[in-house]
Amino acid sequence: MNTEEIVRTFVEYFEERGHRRITGSTLLPSPGDPVLFTTSGMHPLTPHLEGRPHPHGRRLVNRQRCLRTTDLDEVGDRTHLTVFEMLGSWSLGDYEGRSSLDWGHGLLTEGFGIDPGLLHVTVFGGDDQVGPDLDSLELWQRRGVPVELTVEDNWWSNGPTGPCGPDSEIFLWTGDTPPGPKSTPTRDDRWVEIWNHVMMRHRRLEDGSLVPLPQRNVDTGLGLERLSSLLQGRRSVFECDVFDPWRRLLPPLWSLDEPSLRLVGDHLRSSVVVVGDGVRPSNTGRGYVLRRLVRRVLTVLWRDDRSRTLGDLPVDLVRHTLDHFRQEGDPELVLRLLLDEERRFVRLLERGRQVLSRPRFRGPLDEEDLRYLHDTHGLPRELVLQLR
Ligand code: SER
Repeated sequence: MNTEEIVRTFVEYFEERGHRRITGSTLLPSPGDPVLFTTSGMHPLTPHLEGRPHPHGRRLVNRQRCLRTTDLDEVGDRTHLTVFEMLGSWSLGDYEGRSSLDWGHGLLTEGFGIDPGLLHVTVFGGDDQVGPDLDSLELWQRRGVPVELTVEDNWWSNGPTGPCGPDSEIFLWTGDTPPGPKSTPTRDDRWVEIWNHVMMRHRRLEDGSLVPLPQRNVDTGLGLERLSSLLQGRRSVFECDVFDPWRRLLPPLWSLDEPSLRLVGDHLRSSVVVVGDGVRPSNTGRGYVLRRLVRRVLTVLWRDDRSRTLGDLPVDLVRHTLDHFRQEGDPELVLRLLLDEERRFVRLLERGRQVLSRPRFRGPLDEEDLRYLHDTHGLPRELVLQLR
């Protein structure tokens, strides 16, 4: 199944069960939201999880692009991307978690043809504020899926305060040999999480206490590229069909080892999407996330060959990415913007080298030096450390 077929199967399955498809938003949360980027499918729906009626009803399904910088250092492993898409389904105070899990199991095994023997789940085991999630436990036992109970790993929130709740995560076995009897998701990372169902019923207040939300919701999220790679029998997210053009066009341009190829592909693709959603490089907020992505790419590219430039990036790759994320931007313009940012980085590096060659900075640098370099010369700490 290619990625578009996976999306169609997912959406139609939920539509057949009374869900309305809603259009996903951009990566940018609405004005006034303190969060820089949409990090999950539920984020734009927060007011509706808190009780405001949704114009399309109580059962929703969608495809939402997300960006997570918390995982930046994990990019390059088998399962993490900076920008990714999430398929999601919601019950806004309608059906309960066990229906969602039951459908989820049905879709994975019948819709996507996954061998039920290769699934494992985790369920919230209870803490001093909320009891164990017995409904989910019972459903999984009835379905014959092995369950592991955890506490922190099965509590989902989108931040320190706000809607949250116990979740049940579904894992797929990716080992070459069948899982051993003692192998569970927390003990064996060959179990890869594919779908999270959150019983979103609580709100965490500033003082850490929990109050019930006005309605009992279910919020589910499934990482699209991750599922695609697994269904397509690939070992990493970078090998699913979504990355085909990157795998075809980058290696002839720059010879990179596999981890560098993944990082460069992920960060460039993410930069294109972020620019496509209207962000421009800057020293604060969203623009700084974009700047860091571009600089990380250039740092990797220049490790082996200083003559590499984003100016060589095929415009088709940019166009493919904008099309994939259903963005309107002009690919030539996006490319020019990335190249301008590269030029700024070159100038900054030159200035940085000059400043750092002064006698004052020859020895070890203390906090005051780093602050001075940042405040007076605009040299970020990580850049200074990198230049020495
Ligand atoms: N909000 C949950 C997650 O992001 C499920 O959608 O994992």
